[in-house]
Amino acid sequence: MSETARRYLESFFGSVGIDELIRTYGSPLYVYQETQLRQRCREMQQLIQGVPFAAHYSVKANTNIELLRIARDEGLHADAMSPGEILALEAAGYEADSIFFIPNNVSSDELRFAAERGILISVDSLDQLDALGTVQPGGRVALRLNPGIGAGHHEKVVTAGDETKFGISEAQIDDALVIARRHRLTITGLNQHIGSLFMEPEPYLAAAERLLSVAVRFPDLEMIDFGGGFGIPYHKMAGEARLDLDQLGRRLSEMATRFAAGWPRPLMFMSEPGRYIAAEAGVLIGTVHALKSNGKRIYAGTDIGFNVLARPMLYDAWHDLLVTRQDRLLADAPLQTVTVTGNICESGDRIAIDRPLPEMKAGDRILVLDAGAYGYSMSSNYNQRLRPAEVLLTAAGETRLIRRRDTYEDLLRGMLFPVERTPSD
Ligand code: LLP
Repeated sequence: MSETARRYLESFFGSVGIDELIRTYGSPLYVYQETQLRQRCREMQQLIQGVPFAAHYSVKANTNIELLRIARDEGLHADAMSPGEILALEAAGYEADSIFFIPNNVSSDELRFAAERGILISVDSLDQLDALGTVQPGGRVALRLNPGIGAGHHEKVVTAGDETKFGISEAQIDDALVIARRHRLTITGLNQHIGSLFMEPEPYLAAAERLLSVAVRFPDLEMIDFGGGFGIPYHKMAGEARLDLDQLGRRLSEMATRFAAGWPRPLMFMSEPGRYIAAEAGVLIGTVHALKSNGKRIYAGTDIGFNVLARPMLYDAWHDLLVTRQDRLLADAPLQTVTVTGNICESGDRIAIDRPLPEMKAGDRILVLDAGAYGYSMSSNYNQRLRPAEVLLTAAGETRLIRRRDTYEDLLRGMLFPVERTPSD
C-alpha cells in the first residue's frame, strides 16, 4: 500500500507541495489534474469504433467550466440535466449541436429554454413528451427508455428497472408514438442510463442489446445513446482492477456496427460518462483538527464535512484516504482504526468508518482520492459553511485557481433583509 500510495502521490502532485496548496487556497481544497482528465476523455472517445460515435460528458459529475473546456478540447460532447448545466456548457464554448438535454420532471419553461437554443431534448415520460410537443410542435425529440435492467453502486443511483422514476417503459412505447404523432414530433434519438457505477460490463451490454432490439420501432432514428455509469476503481490502494473498457468497447462496437449496417440512414452512437471522466482527476485535501476517543471508537475530526463531500454520507461510498504530515506521506507509521469525521452538526457526518489509517495528529492533511466526480458538484453551504476553492494542476506543471473559495458575503448574497418597520406602518 505505501509504495502504491507514494507512486500515486508523485504522479498526481508532481513537485507541488500539499501544504503550500493549502496555505495558498485554504482548507479544504479540491485539486484536479489535467493530464489525468485528458487521459480519461481519450479512453472514452475510443470506446466505440467502426461507426460514428461521440462520448457525451455528463456534466453533473463536475461542472467547473475549466474542466468542461478541457473535455471540449478533447472532442467530447456533453449531456446536461438542467438549464444551469446548459449555461455552464455555453460558458465553456459548447455549441447547441454538441449538447444533449436529458432532464427529468421539468417545467415547460425549462423545455423551452433548451428548445429555443436548438438543443436536442430527451424526455422520459409520456407527460413530458406531451409537454415538449406543446412547446415545440413539429420538432425533433429523443426518448429515454427504461430497458428494464438496472445497475449501480447503491440503490439510490440505479436508474432503470422496476424501482426507478426514470424512463419510458417498453409497454408505453405505443402511447409515446401516438403522442409524438399528435404533435408531429419526429423521434430521432433513443437514450437510456441504467445507473451509476458498474465494474462488470454485462448489465450495460445486456441493456444496450435491449435498446437496439426496441430501436427498430423508431424508423426516423439518427442517434442511439447507451448511457453512462462506467465505474472507476475506488479501492485502487488495494489494487482494485479497472473496468475493462477495451473489452466492453469491442462488444459495443460489434453490436453497433451490426445494427448500423441494417439501418437505412446514418446513425450516431453515444455514451454518457460522468464519473469515468472526472472522478480520478480530483483529490480533496482537508486538515485534521482533533483526535478523540468515545466508546470503542477513535475519531479523527477534519474540516471535510458532508457539505464538502456528500458521497460517504449519502451512499456509504468508499474513498481511499491518505495522510500527509508536512508534505510527507504517513505510510509507515503504525496503523490505528479511526472513524474520520467532518465539522458538520450531525453524527452521520463521516467520511470513513473504522478505517485503519496511520496514527494522526492535529495539523495533518487528509487526502480523499477519486473525489473529482460528484464531489464539488454536490457540495453545499449547509451549516453556513464555505464551499472550498478548486485548483487545476495543468499539464504544463502550473497550479491554477479555477474557482475561488466562497466568501462570507457569498453566504449572505440573495437573502432579503426585512425593511425595518416603524410603529405607524
Ligand atoms: N446520464 C444520465 C442520464 C445520468 O443521470 C447520469 C448520472 C449519467 C449519465 C452519468 O452517470 P455516471 O457515468 O457518472 O455514473 N451522485 C452519485 C451518482 C449519481 C449519478 C446520477 N446520474 C454518486 O456520487 O455516486
